[in-house]
Amino acid sequence: MKRIASAALLLVLASTLVAVAAQQQPAYTSIQGTVHALQPKTGSFDVVTGVGMSLRIVHLVAPPAGEAAVPLSARPAPATSVLLLVALVASGCAKPVHPGDPISGLTAEQRDRFRRGRAVFDSVFTPETGLGPLFNSAACGECHEDPVSGGSGEEVEVHATAFHADGNCDPLADQGGPVIQQDATPALKAALGLDKEPLPKDATGRGLRTSLAIFGRGLLDAVPDSDIVSYADPDDRNHDGISGRVNRFVDGRIGRFGRKAFVPTLSEFNAGAFVIEQGITNPAVPTEESIGGGPIPAGVDPAPDPEINQEALDLTTDFVRFLAPPSPLRQTGAAGKGRHLFDQIGCASCHLPTLRTGKNSIRALDRKQFFAYTDLLVHDMGPDLADICLGLATPPEFRTEPLVGVRLAHHFLHDGRAATLDQAIELHGGEGSGARDRFKALTPKERDAVIAFLKTL
Ligand code: HEC
Ligand code: HEC
Repeated sequence: MKRIASAALLLVLASTLVAVAAQQQPAYTSIQGTVHALQPKTGSFDVVTGVGMSLRIVHLVAPPAGEAAVPLSARPAPATSVLLLVALVASGCAKPVHPGDPISGLTAEQRDRFRRGRAVFDSVFTPETGLGPLFNSAACGECHEDPVSGGSGEEVEVHATAFHADGNCDPLADQGGPVIQQDATPALKAALGLDKEPLPKDATGRGLRTSLAIFGRGLLDAVPDSDIVSYADPDDRNHDGISGRVNRFVDGRIGRFGRKAFVPTLSEFNAGAFVIEQGITNPAVPTEESIGGGPIPAGVDPAPDPEINQEALDLTTDFVRFLAPPSPLRQTGAAGKGRHLFDQIGCASCHLPTLRTGKNSIRALDRKQFFAYTDLLVHDMGPDLADICLGLATPPEFRTEPLVGVRLAHHFLHDGRAATLDQAIELHGGEGSGARDRFKALTPKERDAVIAFLKTL
């Protein structure tokens, strides 16, 4: 399918070019993103770029023909993580891991960073310390709190994008998308009379997103891209009715975080979360979100940018990176039977029980097999669940939800519409309908066994 948004562009432009990214100009500006709009007459174009879910539009003007060469080449961005070879050490640790525990095998220094990172994660910001001007909540730990920091929360977010007939997905970065903040500081309210960000006028879809638990995301972050690609079967060559595919970020890298698997890495997701959730600028995202695409009125956000430093950002990411997936409970009796049924009826075709990390400079994350119950791909789940597009993911496509820790959740699916695990399964459509129908065809006792199994995760 031809779509401009899927082309990863590396734009290297001479410093004479106007880059309306309000940062100091290096010798040349290198921007990776997707072309949002092109003006052939003036040689100018808008590029969508950004970090995590915090996206920006950058306006660029190409120099007149004949001047400095402007290489404008399409290329898929390679995975950038630098991996060091460290000897694999069998962990052999049988002690149960409780929600909120760090992964085992950390050094004393890493455990210390985990603890200090949790303190930043739980820090409640105020307008004086940088909160807002738009925000969803005042702390990571207000949305990720149940039963411990890093767990789930009651907050529900609003995301909005525009899905065009040609298959192109516009994250509406020029109108404040894709995350539409639901709260504003008193100063912004006074200046503009807004109590939240307005929904973009061009939105074709609105998505509600519950605040999910983020246990074990450091392990998911460390799974090699090539493994994710190997699970994809976009043309359903094996004819099992399941055709998961990878999603990609605006610069072409493979995504894995968020319900649409749009964001490539944990550190980018977190840096973006500070800005989109709390309005906290940081060295990775040094500018605030716009107000529905418009500027922030003067004097409304007096805290100097960046509002947290690199160390606070890195500590937060270490907390999230080292947050362990809780151990499954004992799977005896019905739960043991349910585990086999989960495989037999095809749940495990998407919810892959285990994944393995690649080589990693952190020993505790180096080549570890772990329970994941996801393939990190997006699947078409049918029209009833459909909401927004994001990256390559169309409105009905969602990332296979990792079922690790699902026993601790109070509602299920991306918008929390399912109150029970049974309902969550019954709402699987599209590629999930085969497994759903096989689940429904089980005897009541067998269905209970599958649910009993899920309640051990
Ligand atoms: C207003 C509530 C809220 C706040 C505040 C918040 N989050 Fe989240 N978080 C969410 C929601 C909602 C999602 C799911 C987004 C989606 O589905 O695309 C999420 C997703 C995540 C994920 C990705 C999980 C996954 O499975 O892909 C990580 C990591 C994360 N948050 C970390 C953070 C960090 C770090 C902070 C603080 C800087 C933070 N969050 C602040 C609500 C919040
Ligand atoms: C085609 C891939 C696929 C298959 C097969 C599949 N699922 Fe899912 N599952 C998903 C996706 C994608 C989601 C997220 C949907 C959403 O958030 O709207 C999900 C969500 C869930 C959830 C909700 C998790 C949460 O925390 O919200 C549960 C529970 C679940 N699946 C269980 C099952 C069971 C049990 C089976 C087998 C009967 C199954 N799934 C088969 C893809 C699949």
